[in-house]
Amino acid sequence: MTDSTERWGKPVCVPGDEDRDQERGSGGCLAGSMADVGIYMDNAASSFPKPEAVIEAMADFLRNVGGSSGRGAYRKALEADKIVFRARQAVARLLGVADVSRVVFTANATESLNLAIKGLLSPGDHVVTTSMEHNAVWRPLKAVERRRGVTISQASCAHDGTLDPADIEALLRPNTRLIVMTHASNVTGTLMPVAEAAAIARARGIPLLVDCAQTAGVHPIDIERLGLDLVAFTGHKGLMGPTGTGGLYVRGGLDLVPLKDGGTGGDSMLEHQPEWLPDRFEAGTLNVCGIAGLGAGVRFVLEEGVERIREKEAGLLRRLLDGLSEIPGLEVYGPRDPARQVAVVSLNVRGVPAEEVASRLDREYGIMVRAGLHCAPCAHRTIGTIQRGAVRISLGYFNTEGDVDRCVEALAGIARAAG
Ligand SMILES: Cc1ncc(COP(=O)(O)O)c(C=O)c1O
Repeated sequence: MTDSTERWGKPVCVPGDEDRDQERGSGGCLAGSMADVGIYMDNAASSFPKPEAVIEAMADFLRNVGGSSGRGAYRKALEADKIVFRARQAVARLLGVADVSRVVFTANATESLNLAIKGLLSPGDHVVTTSMEHNAVWRPLKAVERRRGVTISQASCAHDGTLDPADIEALLRPNTRLIVMTHASNVTGTLMPVAEAAAIARARGIPLLVDCAQTAGVHPIDIERLGLDLVAFTGHKGLMGPTGTGGLYVRGGLDLVPLKDGGTGGDSMLEHQPEWLPDRFEAGTLNVCGIAGLGAGVRFVLEEGVERIREKEAGLLRRLLDGLSEIPGLEVYGPRDPARQVAVVSLNVRGVPAEEVASRLDREYGIMVRAGLHCAPCAHRTIGTIQRGAVRISLGYFNTEGDVDRCVEALAGIARAAG
């Protein structure tokens, strides 16, 4: 099965785009005009548009700074250090972390999850996960199963993706070394009981790794209050940053084997990777340009407020779910309740392949969504769509009620035509 994104050509421009641009009420904070792109509803893949401040921060770095962080004492290198430190500080503040050095920058959530999983698990260990995970969790787990003899237990989630935390507890064994779970599904948006899992993990002294790829920036996360041990995040979704950015929070006292070894700028005489964070896990020149954009994205989120972002997205989601519920011939997956999910909805139109629905939404209505398995076959198996996949609509902070109404009308038209 191919994802519809692979087949997309140039996005279409739909009449009325300019009006919607105004309706977005972004106060000029957005980079570029939405008029060129139609209606973007694939924010679970990557958020778009980005705040203007993100583009400015990256352009400013490339134009005026250009230095490598941690690699010099001259002005430009120090400026690069400051950019990285400020970004780390912003992430730490957003995610509820007091010690900013515990926030490690990576290329994306996938790298963070690989670092945590491969850095922690050894031959003979057992790991517990859920049936709603993205391949960014599932494949590293399968890799350590094959290469290190780690055993995996998967807690079965319900058809709407929800998980009973007792099912995690029931799977724990004396050799369980890690619990890993997503905070919200990238297929159904379902929010997972992370606080309950953290309490179970803490009581048993087992580290809990949470994949916050779908929640960082759009749902409140308070790492230290929840007592999370490892938290993977990506920069290019809810944090509004560019692709190629992400990170991992590592609790103090928890040691991981680094994924990569190499230069860190300081302490060059050491023959081994330094023990201290973040250097231990940040070998090689950092993506300072990307981190400049990420820092600006996170500061945008902090200024707007995660609660406000969540509230706006929940309102749009409510409108979308209400509209979808009126359309005969649709199957909508997930909790269908904004209080229990992020603004991601998967669906199928009876009698029409998911790829065709996505392609028609794009070609005929200028609405960009993604069809297929969304890199999450486990989740699709759980909700019963492993054979046909689904159409995923993922809303973002810059979508409008008008966007949602047009999407509902478009789907009603496609469903009507299918009879
Ligand atoms: C739940 C979840 N985990 C992990 C990832 C991987 O994120 P990245 O592609 O930034 O590594 C994604 C991306 O779609 C995701 O949705």
